[in-house]
Amino acid sequence: SASAEKAKARYPGEKKGFVEEMRFVAMKLHTKDQSKEGEKESDAQPIGQWEPTIEGYLKFLVDSKRVYDTMESIVQKASHPSYELFRNTGLERAEKLAKDLEWFAEQGHVIPEPGTDGTTYSKYLTELSETDVPSFICHFYNVYFAHSAGGKFIGKKVAEMILDGRELEFYKWDGELSQLLGAVKENLNKVAEEWTREEKNKCLKETENSFKYSGKILRLIAT
Ligand code: HEM
Repeated sequence: SASAEKAKARYPGEKKGFVEEMRFVAMKLHTKDQSKEGEKESDAQPIGQWEPTIEGYLKFLVDSKRVYDTMESIVQKASHPSYELFRNTGLERAEKLAKDLEWFAEQGHVIPEPGTDGTTYSKYLTELSETDVPSFICHFYNVYFAHSAGGKFIGKKVAEMILDGRELEFYKWDGELSQLLGAVKENLNKVAEEWTREEKNKCLKETENSFKYSGKILRLIAT
């Protein structure tokens, strides 16, 4: 019947809530070597062949800090009321990165200025947060959840290769990570419930841009 047809999920993950829809789109944008769920062909330089350097890793950390500083001040300012739900989630990374950079400086490393990848993404996020809530929320989801998944794995690998296994603060959370993520997921689902299907689709479509901007920053590790 028509109503039974209507009740069927038309978007993968739809029945479980909007976060599941965002996750589905994000996982498909991984390359096959990045995740079992990835559908893209491997990059010219797959992660397994990365040769990280301290210099490149510092660029990555500095540009990442620029992005987290931006995200965290956007939700603090909350130019849109939806953002208020994402204050003090426990996922914040800017202060952790500040500590890590301090440690590198103590070791005698020169901390670079933020590069174009970080500053371009930061500007983009600031604009988007004021003009397009669903698209901004897409970046919020991807930035924090990617770091909790693939990001952690990359950090571990890099630490083994160039930091004698030292675990940075960037990869530590106060509290149980799965619980922090779970609470944010609930709020993301709640916010998206107010959106039209059109707004949801706009958010999902933005995932590509999220990969583009974050991908550039990630690749700094091997420069
Ligand atoms: C999840 C790897 C880059 C967004 C994952 C997972 C892996 C992974 C292994 C876990 C899949 C699982 O749940 O079993 C990687 C690697 C990357 C990379 C190796 C680059 C070298 C990115 C980028 C983004 C991203 C650039 C977007 C900005 C996500 C998201 C999830 C995820 C949203 C889902 C997390 C969740 O289920 O809570 N990634 N990823 N990833 N990744 Fe990536």
